[in-house]
Amino acid sequence: MGKSALITGISGQDGAYLARLLVDKGYKVYGAQRRGASLNTARLEELGVLNEIETVPFELLEYANISSVLNQVAPDEVYNLAAQSFVGTSFDQPLYTGDVDGMGVLRMLEVLRSMGSKARFYQASTSEMFGKVKETPQNEETPFHPRSPYAVAKLYAHWIVVNYRESYNMFATSGILFNHESPLRGAEFVTRKVTLALARIVQGEQDVLSVGNVEAERDWGFAGDYVEGMWRMLQQDEPDDYVLATGRTTKVRDFITASAKALDLDLEWDGEGEQTTATDKKSGKVIVRVDPQFFRPAEVELLLGDAAKAKDKLGWEPTVQLEELTEMMVRADYDRIKNGSLKF
Ligand code: NAP
Ligand code: GDD
Repeated sequence: MGKSALITGISGQDGAYLARLLVDKGYKVYGAQRRGASLNTARLEELGVLNEIETVPFELLEYANISSVLNQVAPDEVYNLAAQSFVGTSFDQPLYTGDVDGMGVLRMLEVLRSMGSKARFYQASTSEMFGKVKETPQNEETPFHPRSPYAVAKLYAHWIVVNYRESYNMFATSGILFNHESPLRGAEFVTRKVTLALARIVQGEQDVLSVGNVEAERDWGFAGDYVEGMWRMLQQDEPDDYVLATGRTTKVRDFITASAKALDLDLEWDGEGEQTTATDKKSGKVIVRVDPQFFRPAEVELLLGDAAKAKDKLGWEPTVQLEELTEMMVRADYDRIKNGSLKF
């Protein structure tokens, strides 16, 4: 009989790519989905996997619900991808973020421990935990310095995973993933916000893209590559922690310039800080502005990952370069706007 997996956060970007991957590998996939006014299935539909999984109602704040789902499903593998995942929002909703992203993980581990479950557990940890970075590039040994309520909650989750592994001999693994993007990325994250806004601007549906700190640098990879890494982590003989990253970092400003170029826009940057603008050379119009409302109370200025351990132990390497990823995202958003088929 094939393996079974429970994926929390099934309606999100990574949930959809991981569901596609596991179904293609012959898994029975259970998608844990929280209740909303309407079911958020657009990403699963876009990857054609909605009808190939079974969804189960799930809420990370509810111990009894987590317990009944895990007892009923009894999966071989659990991928905990659910989270309040937007760093900006965590400053406005720190208690909620702490409860979902920190305590929620403890609830899952406690349920699995009390069941005596042998399920293999993957926790979606994050490069945000490096925050005010202590060294560059960052790897599994780099000390942490989280810079947001989101990152602090994720750091709690990371250490409780390590603690349950060491205390109870559970197969609990923490994947420290650097930023990964795709056409399925949530629209508030900067890459997607940029590709969506520029696709609208060139089609006359928006005038200006307003952004925050364009000097921030991120190590951006493709989500499809990263879910492969998650799966490989759970196929090892022993649980461990792994960084997944591309080893290349890019400024937000340069991602905007490259996305614009993919739409035949030639940008000229001007000014500094809050006065920064970018003008489309052909039309002479300012199409990018910096708006301080998008600045964060504490910023992570630079992330650059070293995934040597994942390459060595998992045989994992990213396959999609940033240029290809940018083109993929810009094209998808251009077509969605053109066809009126934008769903998320
Ligand atoms: P995402 O698109 O924002 O998806 C988050 C998912 O969590 C959604 O399915 C959401 O459901 C669900 N969720 C939120 N609160 C919940 C709750 N209280 N109970 C149950 N489900 C809940 O995130 P993603 O980009 O796929 O990232 C997946 C995971 O990896 C997250 O934990 C994120 O923090 C982490 N991570 C992401 C990256 C990255 O670059 N993408 C890097 C490192 C780590 P709704 O649809 O109902 O909102
Ligand atoms: N969202 C957003 N919107 N970010 C902006 C903007 C803007 O208008 N302008 C500049 N930025 C900067 C942010 O300040 C940050 O430095 C960078 O762009 C990336 O922001 P996000 O795309 O929101 O991602 P993130 O790096 O904060 O967090 C993402 O990656 C983490 C892994 O490092 C999320 O996916 C997290 O869930 C994940 O853990």
